[in-house]
Amino acid sequence: MATKPTTIIEAFQRAGQGQVFAFYSRIDAAAQQRLLSDAAEIDLAEIARLNATLLAPSSSSPGLGPSPGPGSSPSPTPAVNLDALTPAPYEPLPENGGNPADWARAKTAGEAALRAGRVAAFTVAGGQGTRLGYNGPKGTYPVTPLKQKTLFQVFAEKIRAAGLRYGRPLHWFIMTSHANHDATETFFKTHAHFGLDPARVHLFRQGRMPAVDLNGKILLETTDHIAMSPDGHGGSLRALARSGALDLMDREGIDTLSYFQVDNPLVRGIDPAFIGWHLLRHSEMSSKMIPKAYAAEKVGHFCLQNGRLVVVEYSDLPKALQDETDPATGRLRYIAGSIAIHILDTKFIRRIAAGGAGLALPFHRADKKIPTVDAAGAPLKPEKPNGVKFEMFVFDAVPFAKNALVIETRRADDFSPVKNAEGLDSPQTCREDQLRQFARWLKTNGAALATDTTGLPSIAVEVSPLFGYDEDSFADSWKKLNPKPALTERLYLE
Ligand code: UD1
Repeated sequence: MATKPTTIIEAFQRAGQGQVFAFYSRIDAAAQQRLLSDAAEIDLAEIARLNATLLAPSSSSPGLGPSPGPGSSPSPTPAVNLDALTPAPYEPLPENGGNPADWARAKTAGEAALRAGRVAAFTVAGGQGTRLGYNGPKGTYPVTPLKQKTLFQVFAEKIRAAGLRYGRPLHWFIMTSHANHDATETFFKTHAHFGLDPARVHLFRQGRMPAVDLNGKILLETTDHIAMSPDGHGGSLRALARSGALDLMDREGIDTLSYFQVDNPLVRGIDPAFIGWHLLRHSEMSSKMIPKAYAAEKVGHFCLQNGRLVVVEYSDLPKALQDETDPATGRLRYIAGSIAIHILDTKFIRRIAAGGAGLALPFHRADKKIPTVDAAGAPLKPEKPNGVKFEMFVFDAVPFAKNALVIETRRADDFSPVKNAEGLDSPQTCREDQLRQFARWLKTNGAALATDTTGLPSIAVEVSPLFGYDEDSFADSWKKLNPKPALTERLYLE
């Protein structure tokens, strides 16, 4: 039975959040229902806790330890605790000193897990894509050089190809937001799920959190809607549990989830060596790193803190530490950049999702301009931040994981995100990185393709993931190709 309106309203009043219902008596019955339904999503005790910890003037982010370091002054923005921080160790690639036999063993173990159907893919696609200035769900953004395939199509074809290669079609989980769920679903239906079995493509919505003003009062977006926003990609862990995705994985014998972001078409979402490292080390959560290209590169940093692996976001790591170099080698000390590619053990996800003492992911505070209403209920567009959104980050699960592991990857094989409309990490840089990758695969396999000093080919080429989605699968298809195609402008291999 649904909770009675008076019960919900009284609970908000008792929690000091009665302002949410300021216009209740003046809106019609359908509008009242909308407001009550938003209100029912909110955990008032959680909001009270967040107000006490993240809004209190001298609070610190719970993500990285209990308090700001000595000498830090109380500030309205929570400071991250950087005590005892050191660079994290990682498993280097063979060309950078890693043991080739260990990498080969890992790959074999990963391939076995794929053949046994233990692995599923997981894309977080609930973000708003504001920086790109694109209106639809980001996964519907076209990215490939010739065919203008969308991000979702690229991932779908990689997943389909990997399923064929290992003789076990993969399940693909996609987390959407309330704002983009329906559009995402329609997109997949319109494109016949890009050849995947629809029964293996699982879309589910992430959770939402209300925004509060700078005094911790929950904000209204309109008189009949609370200002709600996605709870961050860290919300994916509890959304996987709540949506029934973890139960489905249990039924299907899946214990290993390959996590990646919607903005990065280069990602090897199904990477046998990465899966194998994770399994052989009995890790509960593993991550890929790339050596940062320059000190201020905007990626998370893998660090150790009191023996635990942690990820410190670029915005939280002081410039002095970002710039620090190793006197012996001249190399950046905090070199290990996080590119948001992880493998998670499904039992671990369940444990984190259940939360409880010492296990819940912390929330981060983001001060934002939040459209709201004035005292008369009229729309109010703030010109400076007027409130706070609460978000969880998936990499905050790393310190909770047993045997957490970081392995190195080549940037060119795994990372070229589309984040900004222009400049760094833009459609243009991503297109060029795809061209370089296709050219590299062709050249490695003996094709006489001219490239410039950065590896960019003189002709535009595109490789369908169904032809080759990584070095190995490309090499296999290329070998079988007889005769080989002429290397001419707009060559498309499918
Ligand atoms: C992120 C990471 C950063 C990493 C970089 C690599 C954070 C805070 N930082 O930065 O450490 O080096 O990627 O590219 O994440 N998403 C949801 N729901 C949400 C919010 C985000 O599904 O509520 C998804 C987005 O759709 C996207 C991904 O999470 O796929 C990343 O989100 P975004 O906010 O763009 O992260 P970045 O700041 O780019």
